[in-house]
Amino acid sequence: MAFENLFQSADWKQEKHVPVLEGPDVVKRGEVAVFQVTVGKEIPHPNTTEHHIRWIELYFAPEGEKFPYQLGRVEFTAHGESVAGANQGPAYTEPRALFAVKLDRPGTLYATSYCNIHGLWRSEKAVTVE
Ligand code: FE2
Repeated sequence: MAFENLFQSADWKQEKHVPVLEGPDVVKRGEVAVFQVTVGKEIPHPNTTEHHIRWIELYFAPEGEKFPYQLGRVEFTAHGESVAGANQGPAYTEPRALFAVKLDRPGTLYATSYCNIHGLWRSEKAVTVE
């Protein structure tokens, strides 16, 4: 299987793994814009020691250019682990990340996420610049 085929996508209102990418459709050139990526926005994804979201990444592909730019990566590292055993710990990191970015040209944002059991997921959002 080609690597790109390992990334799944679907309607986020019906599939809990899809990273939901929210933010402005239009940004002002060179000004900070905030984009939020959430996994499980409509249907919560499990957050247990055995089953959880490990990370979210955000990329930007400028229109008409060949190479994407990684805007950031957030690791979610607490899922109820503890010396008392699985799911006995005091902390669980929720799979939500904010990225504050400046863009100077239009393009497409790509959010990717990884579930430790159900693999790689993606979504995208076009952004224009004024
Ligand atoms: Fe999962």
